[in-house]
Amino acid sequence: MIQSMIRIISRKFLTYLKCIGRRKLCLVPPVVLLVVVLWPACWWFAAHTSRALLPPLPPEQPLQHFRRNRSLQHYLKHTQILIEPSSSPCGSIEEVRLITLVSSAPPRAEQRQAVRDTWAKYQRTYFVMGLYGDHVDEQLVDNYIEAKQYGDLIVYDFRDHYQNLTLKTALMLQWTLDKCPQTEFLFKTDDDVLVNPWTMDKVLAQNVDAQLLGYSRNNTYLHREEYNKWYVPRWLCHEDYVSRYLSGTGYLINGDYLPQIMQAAIHVPLVNLEDIYFTYLVAHKELGLKLTHDRRLSPIKPWFKVSCMYWDLASTHSLDPQEMRTAWAKLEGLMKGRNNTRNVCATFDWFFGSWKDYGLTFE
Ligand SMILES: *[C@@H]1O[C@H](CO)[C@@H](O)[C@H](O)[C@H]1NC(C)=O
Ligand SMILES: *[C@@H]1O[C@H](CO)[C@@H](O)[C@H](O)[C@H]1NC(C)=O
Ligand SMILES: *[C@@H]1O[C@H](CO)[C@@H](O)[C@H](O)[C@H]1NC(C)=O
Repeated sequence: MIQSMIRIISRKFLTYLKCIGRRKLCLVPPVVLLVVVLWPACWWFAAHTSRALLPPLPPEQPLQHFRRNRSLQHYLKHTQILIEPSSSPCGSIEEVRLITLVSSAPPRAEQRQAVRDTWAKYQRTYFVMGLYGDHVDEQLVDNYIEAKQYGDLIVYDFRDHYQNLTLKTALMLQWTLDKCPQTEFLFKTDDDVLVNPWTMDKVLAQNVDAQLLGYSRNNTYLHREEYNKWYVPRWLCHEDYVSRYLSGTGYLINGDYLPQIMQAAIHVPLVNLEDIYFTYLVAHKELGLKLTHDRRLSPIKPWFKVSCMYWDLASTHSLDPQEMRTAWAKLEGLMKGRNNTRNVCATFDWFFGSWKDYGLTFE
């Protein structure tokens, strides 16, 4: 079968070669085929495969606004508040233990609702954001409605973007100074963080004198690859290495030091990473404040989702709304439950010891 096919093809080919020998016109069909079909096909193939071989283009890293001006004062001066909580957060109350400000973004209403329905019931909590996307007006109308209903939104007129988080945190500090200067602590966190209010109480009680408190990351090299989410170009921060900073997923600032920190920030050029900027560059390096490490203010998400994994952490990071509600139900059950459930966790802790910390995954 195959042999006979080969025989036929070679015979046809020989006839064709003879044809070319006799008449040049016999060359036309193959040339036409080459030009019309093969050449565009090769062209298409080369264009597509070469794109796959080239490294991808670096993602857009919109850091250009920092080239124009890196003075925090400049950005604060040009940023107006658009929506504020309906009632004064601290008013005439003399002592306020904790104000929690959650970094959110306009479209993340579902995350905010999960926070409201869970841990925020136990803590004075507000959400801070800017303006988002191409349909700013529509988004703002939605946010107005949400603000009217819950009274816990703080919206400013800056562009809400990952590279503007330092400005967002600065606005949080500023707002706390304006509205609730008597607070003992400000807790800055994110809307995908689950807070355990009972452990948070313990953390606060054990650290009344702390200046800044959080999960200390030690001896970190900054990311110089443009592909990285935490990319910091050298022109923004010439130091390659940061000796200590507190993870931005959740850190506490003692209210007494807020004025000092905001004052010092005027002299420190902005950097896109808010935790490195405020906890390391401003608080630690410029002011010499102490950064206290507490492993319970965890930037980590347990991979092993049993109640006891959550019970002694003050914060757990990177949960979607559904995960947050599920984890909260476990936690609330545990905390409202009888003491012996807690004893089970104490035993769990004792048994697994430090393994438990290493068994957690970083996000
Ligand atoms: C940045 O803004 C500050 C405060 O508004 C201003 O004093 C300074 O001149 C500006 N710097 C540049 C480079 O424009
Ligand atoms: C940050 O906010 C400012 C003020 O709204 C804006 O000019 C700038 O473009 C924003 N940066 C990014 C990366 O969106
Ligand atoms: C960072 O250093 C501090 C002080 O030396 C230490 O207490 C803390 O455990 C360290 N952080 C981590 C994550 O190991």
